[in-house]
Amino acid sequence: MDAIAALRAKYLGQTDQASDADALEAVRLAALGKKGEISLKMRELGRMSPEERQIAGPALNALKSEIDAALRARRAALDDAALEERLKTEWLDVTLPGRPRPMGTIHPISQVMDELTAIFADMGFRVAEGPQIESDWYNFDALNIAPEHPARQEHDTFFMHRAAGDNRPPHVLRTHTSPVQIRAMQAQGAPIRVIAPGRVYRMDMDQTHTPMFHQVEGLAIDRDITMAQLKWTLEEFCRAFFEVDQVELRFRASHFPFTEPSAEVDIRCSWEGGQLKIGEGNDWMEILGSGMVHPHVLRAGGIDPDQWQGFAFGMGIDRIAMLKYGIPDLRAFFESDLRWLRHYGFQALDQPSLPAGLSR
Ligand code: PHE
Repeated sequence: MDAIAALRAKYLGQTDQASDADALEAVRLAALGKKGEISLKMRELGRMSPEERQIAGPALNALKSEIDAALRARRAALDDAALEERLKTEWLDVTLPGRPRPMGTIHPISQVMDELTAIFADMGFRVAEGPQIESDWYNFDALNIAPEHPARQEHDTFFMHRAAGDNRPPHVLRTHTSPVQIRAMQAQGAPIRVIAPGRVYRMDMDQTHTPMFHQVEGLAIDRDITMAQLKWTLEEFCRAFFEVDQVELRFRASHFPFTEPSAEVDIRCSWEGGQLKIGEGNDWMEILGSGMVHPHVLRAGGIDPDQWQGFAFGMGIDRIAMLKYGIPDLRAFFESDLRWLRHYGFQALDQPSLPAGLSR
């Protein structure tokens, strides 16, 4: 019995001392492993007299269970402590505010698109989209620009390739966002109120022209829409966009095949001291083309011109972005110069909205 008490004290003591999983496993092997001390002792039972065995057997079994339980308990305690330790070093305070770090900025064109989308959405316009590679029909014919119409030349069109022998008119890189008028009318019918911001392409390159630039198309068709609503809508837009109380627009008679009557619109501004101010001064800056949608165009969009009428406009996004944010050279917009992007870019998390303010 003394031998068992000694084994008990030895292995319970070692278990207590074991400071990690490896040490604990060594104790287990030494005591309960196949060649462990207690296992060997149990093998000796066979050589004992029945009387001796009756006492030693249960005692050894009890010792084996006791040490096994102690090893498990110690194992669990060590695991808990290790987890505790890890939690101490790996904890994370998820309630901390975000840390500002250098990140990309929103390009002024994207910013302006978000701004004008917010303004027109407030007036009930939805955003419509169309492809940048457009069919000849959508870009020209449907907009009342017949094949021999001089406007086709004025558009400096990029044409896509057609296989030799394929005599259908080639697709084009859309020269304006006006084809989205047709697609939106076909998709939604009348009444309709949409804007369509996006990229357009013309073969042109100098300080005020790039081969790719941006327009936003506007289209409003209902039973009795007139030029008066066009004027109000554009004035409302300019006031909100340029963030000034007063704007003055000048409608100049013009010509577009897809509108009748047509008007180009200038905004009153001042360049005094090289500083652009919108709404005052004696200068005028052209910002868009507009007019009442031509009956042929309504028909191409599947809308009956005897039942419906409305206005359309097309505005240069790059132009109004330059005006609003004082950006002198159009080409810089598309050069991806990091210093320029950091200087003119907008914070990624500041979404323009009417209630919160369009720009800081
Ligand atoms: N599509 C014309 C342009 O690119 C602009 C415009 C759109 C004019 C809609 C009138 C109506 O110049």
